[in-house]
Amino acid sequence: MTRVLFVCLGNICRSPTAEGVFRALVERAGATSSFEIDSAGTGAWHAGEPPDRRMTAAAGRAGFALSGAARQVTPADFGRFDYILAMDQRNLEDLEGLRPSPEGARLELFRAWDPEGPGDTPDPYYGGPEGFDEVVRIVERTARALLEELSARPG
Ligand code: 4NP
Repeated sequence: MTRVLFVCLGNICRSPTAEGVFRALVERAGATSSFEIDSAGTGAWHAGEPPDRRMTAAAGRAGFALSGAARQVTPADFGRFDYILAMDQRNLEDLEGLRPSPEGARLELFRAWDPEGPGDTPDPYYGGPEGFDEVVRIVERTARALLEELSARPG
């Protein structure tokens, strides 16, 4: 079992997309029982809300469904997950500050796995619809590469 947590700022745009796309790819690969997948935000402003409707629409255009309710990441997540993957550098720094001890989850930038990365997954919240489609493109190619590597991982 490999446990993966995707983290952005609000947990209503980028990390729910990473969660939904990664989950769909895992399902299509017949590997559902090998993964536990979740997402969270460094901030709590949107806790309890579903993914942003603009993000859900963009994911839908690419054939992916988003679900779940936003929650804030907690120090306990570092003991619950094998990988905590930050959508941008600021998220990564905030997570480093929250980490209770050097043990536990491997903390990385999500786009460390992007064949066209690394870099930030740009925050689409205050921009136009094209920003949401760009998030889906980045997430899809990165999630494919991530699944390939984690599927090859022993145990
Ligand atoms: P996310 O996008 O971090 O990808 O979920 C954002 C959502 C909300 C806000 C910022 C970014 N906000 O400022 O409320």
